[in-house]
Amino acid sequence: MTLLQIEKIGKSFGGLRALNDVNFAVNNGETVGLMGANGAGKTTLFSIIAGHQPPTDGIVRFKGDQMTGKRPDQICHAGIARTFQIVRPFARMTVRENVETAILFGGARHASNQPLEIRAKDILDQVGLVDQSEMPSGALTLSGRKKLEVARALGTGPELLLLDEVMAGLTPAEVAKMLDTLRAIKADHKLTIFIIEHVVSTLSDLSDRIIVLHHGVKIAEGTPREIAENKDVRTVYFGGDDT
Ligand SMILES: Nc1ncnc2c1ncn2[C@@H]1O[C@H](COP(=O)(O)OP(=O)(O)O)[C@@H](O)[C@H]1O
Ligand SMILES: [Mg+2]
Repeated sequence: MTLLQIEKIGKSFGGLRALNDVNFAVNNGETVGLMGANGAGKTTLFSIIAGHQPPTDGIVRFKGDQMTGKRPDQICHAGIARTFQIVRPFARMTVRENVETAILFGGARHASNQPLEIRAKDILDQVGLVDQSEMPSGALTLSGRKKLEVARALGTGPELLLLDEVMAGLTPAEVAKMLDTLRAIKADHKLTIFIIEHVVSTLSDLSDRIIVLHHGVKIAEGTPREIAENKDVRTVYFGGDDT
């Protein structure tokens, strides 16, 4: 079943065409990777899906319903959560309070009898942050802040999780741990994952399918193996054009 449908999405910033006629679907239960060099339009596409920026052209559908034109909180309540590439928790709140806030924000979708604190603790446990629960978020390491981003997104109770470079800047050991975490939360929360990741091997490891953007245009879509063998992708990635 199609969960997310991207239809003819375009985005212009003044004279810059950041996205142009982008079309694809993400199916229920899949992990789909979004690949592309810096400036390819990946984060802009996430912002459009989550309602943080309007597209210039096209429509985003989620479970058949048009999301374009809705507010971020409405899209969140529909079941889409994103993390931000630039991590921005409420620094003075504790780690636990940040997750509780996210649970309350997404609350219209997931009424639960469990106390907020218990629900937050469960999520923090899953991402490996439970020992830092009472720490101010501003005191977390980069790895901790990335985990908190995932926890906050998870707290809103999504069906579709958009992850924007949650492994950037982590050590290989931290990346390995994050991959395990993502697989575990995907299974436990029955999530569909749409993920941006700079390291191609990491993205290939996690994804059922990969979509490649280049200067705002979709140039390839396929299994990680098909993408690795794709001529256009190879030219863009290994042909000396690194813009
Ligand atoms: N708010 C904005 N205003 C103007 N230009 C923007 C804005 N956001 C992104 N861009 C430009 O759009 C292009 C795509 O950016 P982005 O989506 O962040 O790429 P990626 O995430 O793939 O690195 C870049 O050229 C970037 O400079
Ligand atoms: Mg980006």
